[in-house]
Amino acid sequence: MDYDIKDLALAGAGRLRIEWAGRSMPVLNKIKERFKKEQPLRGLRISACLHVTSETANLMTVLKAGGAEVRLAASNPLSTQDEVAAALVKYEKIPVFAIKGEDNKTYYRHLHQALAHEPHLTMDDGADLVTTIHEKKRQLIKNIIGGTEETTTGVIRLRSMARSGVLSYPIIAVNDALTKHLFDNRYGTGQSSIDGILRATNILLAGLTVVVCGYGWCGRGVASRARGAGARVIICEVNHLKALEALMDGYEVKPLREAAVEGNVFITVTGNKNVIRLEHFKRMKTGAIITNAGHFNVEVDLTSLNKISVRRRKIREYVEEYQLPDGRLLHVLAEGRLINLAAAEGHPAMVMDMSFANQALSVLYLKEKGKNLEKKVFPVPETIDREIARLKLSSMGIKIDHLTPEQKKYLQAWKEGT
Ligand code: ADE
Repeated sequence: MDYDIKDLALAGAGRLRIEWAGRSMPVLNKIKERFKKEQPLRGLRISACLHVTSETANLMTVLKAGGAEVRLAASNPLSTQDEVAAALVKYEKIPVFAIKGEDNKTYYRHLHQALAHEPHLTMDDGADLVTTIHEKKRQLIKNIIGGTEETTTGVIRLRSMARSGVLSYPIIAVNDALTKHLFDNRYGTGQSSIDGILRATNILLAGLTVVVCGYGWCGRGVASRARGAGARVIICEVNHLKALEALMDGYEVKPLREAAVEGNVFITVTGNKNVIRLEHFKRMKTGAIITNAGHFNVEVDLTSLNKISVRRRKIREYVEEYQLPDGRLLHVLAEGRLINLAAAEGHPAMVMDMSFANQALSVLYLKEKGKNLEKKVFPVPETIDREIARLKLSSMGIKIDHLTPEQKKYLQAWKEGT
């Protein structure tokens, strides 16, 4: 079997991690039981480009249980859990192409290797697989029924491809399902980004000023968890509506130029590039910590920081110290790559359960309906979203109320008023 991982000998430890994560993924486990029985994905070849974590491993085994032939590459050079990659290869016989810390060239070679079986479906996190196919492997397009996309950044790129008329097969935007972004983006990114910062630095957040750039679902989560840990939180936004929401959620809101002089910790979660740049580095206090929780490592302008620094050294794992000519020290975590997966373990299985249930059911939907879909970006069908919420609550033993027949009628009528 073809694969490229760090060390097969790590497989034993990886298997335990996968089992541990699986215990918090009841919805995905239910889908697995059904897939095992019905084999609805039999004959399908899937190329996946996802963070290679214990949660992703559980998704891969679900697809395989459904009869699919899967190949997996990493969606980020720093997020791979090498022992998980080894376990997938050794015990699940799934070809994995991912090594934590791989360089850019290896990263793209791995994407090509994940595509080597000429997939019917693609599963992406950030849209690097889809763009590679469109730019370098167009011959694969004729076989492809459709693809899924896991994250906000990927959905934005794919919508741009659709708008420009270059997207050549339909995509389901898993990110846009309510059971995905309301939980994974908000609570998953919120908790795991703080977790990554703490594991990398061991700082005490209480009493510090934390500046969060971006108040989307991820930013909301990061801000609320930083506040929960006792930090004073400042939000920087470019969108009036989101800035207003942040203000009424009780945060200070101001431009980054002003926040730059006050912050102890800066976290970017915008999906845009050069959010923290020269004009901000110049104003920051010594000791400031700069980190990114957005998908790509473009949010912090490290090229400029490098240029103005007189010295640079790794002061601890995941912490790079930059010394400026006036003696100030700025610290960048995990090379500006997404901190939650680089220095911690990514979102907990409890939320990935819903995200990956959306992935598994979207694959099935594409298999059944993909041929009739236009070459556009589509939402996850609402029936799937609602069913996942129902299954998740039921797995937690939570019951809810139901409308009475009188209430159902009332909601459909319009004559009853004042
Ligand atoms: N994205 C964020 N957290 C993740 C995780 N634990 N596994 C896979 N993808 C992720």
